[in-house]
This record gives sequence, C-alpha cells and structure tokens, in this order.
Amino acid sequence: MHILVTGGAGYIGSHTTLQLLERGDTVTVFDNLNNSSTISLERVSQLIDKPINFIQGDLIDTNELHKLFSQFQFDSVVHFAGLKAVGESVAQPLRYYQNNVSGTLNLLQEMQKANIKTLIFSSSATVYGDPQALPVTEEAPVKPTNPYGQSKAMIEKILSDLCDSDSEWRIACLRYFNPVGAHPSGYIGEDPSGIPNNLMPFVSQVATGLRECLSVFGNDYDTPDGTGVRDYIHVMDLAQGHLAALDYLANQPSGKLLTINLGTGRGYSVLEMIEAFEKTIGKPISYRIVGRRSGDVASCYADPSLAEKLLDWKAARGIEDMCIDTWRWQSNNPRGYREQQ
Ligand code: NAD
Ligand code: UFG
Repeated sequence: MHILVTGGAGYIGSHTTLQLLERGDTVTVFDNLNNSSTISLERVSQLIDKPINFIQGDLIDTNELHKLFSQFQFDSVVHFAGLKAVGESVAQPLRYYQNNVSGTLNLLQEMQKANIKTLIFSSSATVYGDPQALPVTEEAPVKPTNPYGQSKAMIEKILSDLCDSDSEWRIACLRYFNPVGAHPSGYIGEDPSGIPNNLMPFVSQVATGLRECLSVFGNDYDTPDGTGVRDYIHVMDLAQGHLAALDYLANQPSGKLLTINLGTGRGYSVLEMIEAFEKTIGKPISYRIVGRRSGDVASCYADPSLAEKLLDWKAARGIEDMCIDTWRWQSNNPRGYREQQ
C-alpha cells in the first residue's frame, strides 16, 4: 500500500511512518516543517535502512497539493499535519482555523479528485472539553473549550458530512489522549520548540538540567492528590493504533466513519508522573506547586474498549516504559534534533 502521511516529520507522524515502513508499506511524507525538521526523517531512514520519500509542502497551498496527487497514486492518507498548541490557538485563532480546517479541506478536495477515499485523521481528547463522566466514551458530548479543540471538532463534523454524502469514504477519527514516550532506540522522539507546554517534555528537560524547576499547575483539583489526572499513552502504542485503523477500514465491505478513543484507560496524576520519572532516572525532579493553568480540567481518561473491540488494539506499554523511553530519547538528545543542526 502507498500511504500519504501528512505531518510525517512531526512527533507522532515520524513514529507512525517508521511502523508503516517496517510492515512493508510505501510511505510519502508531506510536511511544511513548521514544527519539525528533516532530521526526524533521516533518523527514521537510518532505523529502517531505507530512504524516505519526503515532499516539503504546505496543505494551504493548493498548487503544491495538486502536484503531489498528480505525481503519486496513493491508496490512503494518514493526516497528522496541524498546529497543536492550545494557548497559541487562543491567541491566534485565525491561524489555527486556517491551517487546521482549511488545510484539511484542501486535502479532502484533492483526495476526492484523485478518488482516494480512505483517511485516518488525528483528532484529540480535547474535543470532550471538561468531561462530565469518566472514563470518557466516544458518546460523550463534544464541547471543546479552545480554538484548537474547535478546529478538531469542526474537522470531525466535515468528515461526518463527507461520509454521509458519499458512501465510498472510509474515515477514522482517532481521538488521542496524552501521547508521551519515544521510540525505544532513543533515536526519534518529541522535540518541542522553546519552552515545552506539555508535562513530560518539561519533566525530562528538568532532568537533563536544561530547565531548572517544573511548575505543577494546581494541587487543589478534585483528584486523589489534588493534581491533574490524564491518560498518558506511549507514542509507539499510538502509532500502532493507526496501523490497526488502516487495517480495519481496508476490511470494511463499504464506506465507514469510525470515531474512536486511543488511550490506555488509566489516569495518572502529575505527582504520580513525577514520581515514576524520578524512579526511572534515580534522582529527584525539582518542582513547585503554582496556581492552576487556565483551561485545564481536573481529570480526563479514556474508555478505550471500542478500540479493543473494533480494531483489536490495546495499549501495551505502561508508565515505566513511557518514562524509560522518554528518558533515553531526552538524555541522548538533550537539545532534541537541534544538536544535529
Ligand atoms: P507535531 O507538531 O510534532 O507534528 C505535526 C506536523 O505537521 C509537523 O511536522 C508540522 O510541521 C506539520 N504541519 C503543520 N501544519 C502543516 C501544514 N499546513 N502543511 C504541512 N505540514 C504541516 O505534532 P504531533 O504531536 O505529532 O501531532 C500530530 C497530530 O496529532 C496533530 O494534528 C495534533 O493536533 C494531533 N494531536 C496531538 C496530540 C499531542 O499531544 N501530541 C494530542 C492529540 C492530538
Ligand atoms: N502540567 C503541569 N506543568 C506543566 C505542564 C503540564 O503541571 O509544565 C499538568 C497540567 O496541568 C495537566 C497535566 O500536567 O494536569 C498534563 O498537561 P499537558 O499539557 O501535558 O497535557 P493536556 O492534558 O493539558 O493537553 C494535551 C495536549 C492537547 C490535547 C490533550 C488531549 O497538549 O493538545 O492533551 O489529548 F488536546
């Protein structure tokens, strides 16, 4: 199968590209390198010992997209490309809607013209907003609380309307919970630019000495230790979820819209994550409790049973693997891919 991977140079895209290549698929990565570099793909290429077919381009540029679809005959598309920083989306909503929603519309139009109707879309647990019941099932109301989440919810709606209009489309919206970890080689991993927004990259940068102290955003939530609880999922498990979703769609007798949670079903608090990381590295992580971060919810973790039932997929890696692999990546690449530039 020839699979177009948009955003394939990024964190989740590079791990999924590697797994697709490992199982024998042909992959073309399309990425504008807005939040990534080609070094991730060079590393994937070294791990698989094969060249990577990479096209630098932007989903917003319809000419580039048209050229891409004229040049190759894809069987399906795995669509990671998007902007993902919640705070930035509040400050720059137009940029987020333009990039995420218009970019996806451009992609869908080209797919339709080329008669390629199988798509995996990177959605997010952020579409649930502040969930009323836990664990969160796919039936929970979609109530995003920021422009980033809105852009994901809008795209899901567009995809649902598209499936209603034409029964040949096979689409999976995968709602990821909190991706963490790295490839066990320590060769590819998450490389945020600037100060990390997310917990685990920040914790691992404190561990290497790049940052002084972690701010824990609030210890007065209604959770067992007062800190926020999330469903952290190893990026290798997450990548495997995409392969499982592709197989599921390929085996459907007719068109299909699948909306599915990819999480572990187990929530960990911020303090539990810090403790697990300290155990892995054998030294304390310096942290202090500060006020709540605006927009954060107390707890969010998945009911992942639908993914197990339909995709025969289940997260296999636990908190220990998440910490060990994060640490291997971070300690081998303290400045991420920039070390190489
Ligand atoms: P990432 O930023 O590492 O990867 C996204 C990639 O898309 C980057 O390489 C970027 O350069 C590229 N890109 C962005 N806009 C583009 C455009 N217009 N044209 C071409 N390329 C473009 O992010 P990630 O963590 O790998 O996330 C992948 C997807 O998963 C995103 O859609 C994100 O919203 C979604 N997601 C991520 C998380 C998370 O916490 N990492 C959680 C839920 C959902
Ligand atoms: N946290 C801290 N200090 C930090 C960073 C985070 O205490 O420096 C806390 C947060 O308050 C939260 C937990 O750690 O309780 C996790 O925070 P993250 O920023 O790592 O993750 P979020 O759950 O806030 O959001 C992430 C992605 C979103 C995505 C969502 C669900 O950033 O894009 O998971 O998939 F939508």
